[in-house]
Amino acid sequence: MINKKLLFKKRPYGLPDENTWELTEEKLPDLLEGEILIEHEYISLDPAMRGWMNEARSYIKPIEIGEVMRAGSVGKVIQKSGKTKFKIGDHVSGWGGVQTHCISNGENLIKVDPLKSNLSTYLGVLGMPGMTAYFGILEEAKIKEGDVVLVSGAAGAVGSLVGQIAKIKGCTVVGIAGGEKKCNYIKDNLGFDNSIDYKKGNVIKEIKKKCPNGIDVYFDNVGGEILDAALIFLRRNARVILCGAISQYNNKESIKGPKNYLSLLVNRASIKGMIVFDYVHKYEKAISEISGWIEEGKITVNEDIYEGIDNFRSIFLKLFNGDKMGKLILKIKPK
Ligand SMILES: NC(=O)c1ccc[n+]([C@@H]2O[C@H](COP(=O)([O-])OP(=O)(O)OC[C@H]3O[C@@H](n4cnc5c(N)ncnc54)[C@H](OP(=O)(O)O)[C@@H]3O)[C@@H](O)[C@H]2O)c1
Repeated sequence: MINKKLLFKKRPYGLPDENTWELTEEKLPDLLEGEILIEHEYISLDPAMRGWMNEARSYIKPIEIGEVMRAGSVGKVIQKSGKTKFKIGDHVSGWGGVQTHCISNGENLIKVDPLKSNLSTYLGVLGMPGMTAYFGILEEAKIKEGDVVLVSGAAGAVGSLVGQIAKIKGCTVVGIAGGEKKCNYIKDNLGFDNSIDYKKGNVIKEIKKKCPNGIDVYFDNVGGEILDAALIFLRRNARVILCGAISQYNNKESIKGPKNYLSLLVNRASIKGMIVFDYVHKYEKAISEISGWIEEGKITVNEDIYEGIDNFRSIFLKLFNGDKMGKLILKIKPK
């Protein structure tokens, strides 16, 4: 059996280019005792993948040159050897990488049920971005009814769920997104109270207009100037959650830090970083609660699915050029 895989070839400087990866094929080896062969159906495309390509100390080790590009995946067990905890036909999610097949000893794999939810959704609201939004807004930001929540990257995988959960909990939610289409979408389809188009107009003036009494929580997915603008409007005891800084990931110069940090002091506010992997032991609870919300119609799932491992690079770049809505996913298994 042939495996098509994307190897990481060269650390990018700025945006990844045609030299960053190489697509190759290999004949899959025979399975060893206890191993399973997974046929990938979907691969998750996440902004964090850009950070994993840098050779820098982080919350997870960098991808090594020559390795298969790291990515979240969901697929079906099609072979097994000897005693394993998975059977042929089981569906699993894990970190199988950008390839059509993956051999695994079963470690760090979660069994998922395609009858309960679309398989792709285990990479979105029921996967890593969903867990990030859930624990970020509930356990890190500790929202309470009546809070004013401002969230950036609001039409993205994490931001769109952050806003919807905050609405369920009785907050007033304002989302920052790029372009009229995304701004209308988060208001009309996701129930946000208001939106700010950061590509049009002045973000500081817009936050002042849309959050006239200030903000209790700023959930930051983008960093840079938008973080700086949000700091100006913190209310007393506000919480700023640093989830990501996508505006800075492809920077060729040094990262832009916030100038307006004294607002934290004046307002007795806090700023805190979060990493979703610290909550792995609680994922089951979050998956069950989010699934319930989906069934009740309180959460809208929004996935942008493209097809074909050969198109990986152009689809990956959609994370950074705004040309996608909701969770970006690559369908690997041909029809
Ligand atoms: N801490 C953790 O454990 C953890 C876990 C998962 C994700 N994250 C981080 O959370 C953030 C959101 O992730 P995601 O999965 O939701 O990604 P996503 O679906 O790609 O959404 C990110 C959004 O950011 C916006 N964006 C892109 N470049 C921007 C820029 N220069 N300035 C302002 N906005 C920009 C894009 O929409 P527009 O068209 O609106 O620009 C995009 O929809 C990322 O920073 C990611 O690294 C952190």
